[in-house]
Amino acid sequence: MDYGSSQSPKPSVGNRLNFVGLIVLVLFATIAIGSISGCEQGPTRQLASDTLVLRASPDGGGVVPHPAGLPFTKAEIELGQMLFHSTALSSNGKVSCATCHNPSLSFTDGMGQNNLGVTAVKLDRSAPALVNLAWADSMFWDGRAFSLEQQALGPLNHPNEMGMDTTQLPAKVAEVLPKAKDYMIRIYGDPLINNQRIVRAIAMYERSLVSRNSLYDKYRRRDPGHRMMPDAMANGFLIFNVNCSNCHSGDNFTDNLYHNIGLEPWPDLNSDKPGLARYRVTKRESDVGAYKTPGLRNIALTAPYMHDGRFKTLAEVVAFYSDHVIEVPNLDPNMRDNERKAGLHISAQDQADLVVFLQALTDTAFVAEHRGDGKAK
Ligand code: HEC
Ligand code: HEC
Repeated sequence: MDYGSSQSPKPSVGNRLNFVGLIVLVLFATIAIGSISGCEQGPTRQLASDTLVLRASPDGGGVVPHPAGLPFTKAEIELGQMLFHSTALSSNGKVSCATCHNPSLSFTDGMGQNNLGVTAVKLDRSAPALVNLAWADSMFWDGRAFSLEQQALGPLNHPNEMGMDTTQLPAKVAEVLPKAKDYMIRIYGDPLINNQRIVRAIAMYERSLVSRNSLYDKYRRRDPGHRMMPDAMANGFLIFNVNCSNCHSGDNFTDNLYHNIGLEPWPDLNSDKPGLARYRVTKRESDVGAYKTPGLRNIALTAPYMHDGRFKTLAEVVAFYSDHVIEVPNLDPNMRDNERKAGLHISAQDQADLVVFLQALTDTAFVAEHRGDGKAK
């Protein structure tokens, strides 16, 4: 089925900030006065002269959340974008965040456990898509980081990812990205470059990566020409709601929780294998082999699937849920059929329709909007 033909024309991608639907706020007087009056050291306030409200959906619905007191600004998103796409932040000058989080693939790399870092050592886990993370309350497959700010130093420091000595990072940024100083002046009123500011800008850019314009969204909003889902997609949606939406719930298709879905037999708890998953963080047996429910937006673009990229296609994923779930003591109750047997046991037709539904979560406008993010402006 060709969904391309039934899509309404793409929104203009020339000005991505426009597309997200920004409204410039006019309430910055107090903040501006605060910073003019010199406000001692303390956590620096942003100059709010270009504060933005990012809209979650092209029809203006919902607002993209941000940390309290730290509104989005155009300058900070642009700075974050520049840093995210800069290979200068790695020890060998060859790896950027975008090396493993490529905008054309909804910010993943198409590789499963990749070896794209500075040492070319194969990583333990697959790089997740970075989309709608403004709504996420923890990061990584096992949830070991709590904010995007906290997360971002991870890959920069990681010996097998970007291998940077982060004490040297501000000086390196100042040297190779002279524009960074100008951005700091726009954001903070002074040219200081430090890790906190670097990390915050990257996190704000990541929060601005919002996808809510897939074919599925168009049907949900009942956009012109999208009154009724085609039969296969509608059936897929139904099957999804029965079998999958307990965990892949809400607008971002995740409950932000951890589940053992029965991919692996019960492991040796005394090992230090990454396969212990969330157990390594909490030491609770209920978390053995439990991973964070990933959001499913743009899922057709982000193969291979699961924390280790073990499944190459969505059909393989769906076949796993139907027939290959392994019985383990902490198997999530939502992974059992009506007779409490492991596996959801979905008919071949329903499996095919489920895949059609998952494909309808692709947001081609999101990809078009961000494809050029790394190009110099
Ligand atoms: C060499 C590849 C590589 C590079 C470079 C890299 N990442 Fe990642 N990223 C990964 C992998 C692999 C994971 C999953 C790790 C895990 O869950 O244990 C990940 C996870 C993440 C997550 C968590 C997403 C989620 O849904 O939990 C974020 C956010 C992220 N990376 C941002 C960044 C940023 C920002 C940079 C640059 C500063 C970066 N990454 C550089 C491979 C990479
Ligand atoms: C019990 C909660 C739960 C249920 C029910 C569930 N999932 Fe998942 N899903 C998860 C978790 C947790 C992961 C990550 C597992 C891992 O990587 O080890 C996941 C991973 C996925 C992935 C791979 C995502 C990626 O980025 O690699 C897809 C696709 C998916 N699920 C689709 C479905 C479909 C379709 C259904 C219904 C047939 C379903 N899920 C039912 C919790 C669930």
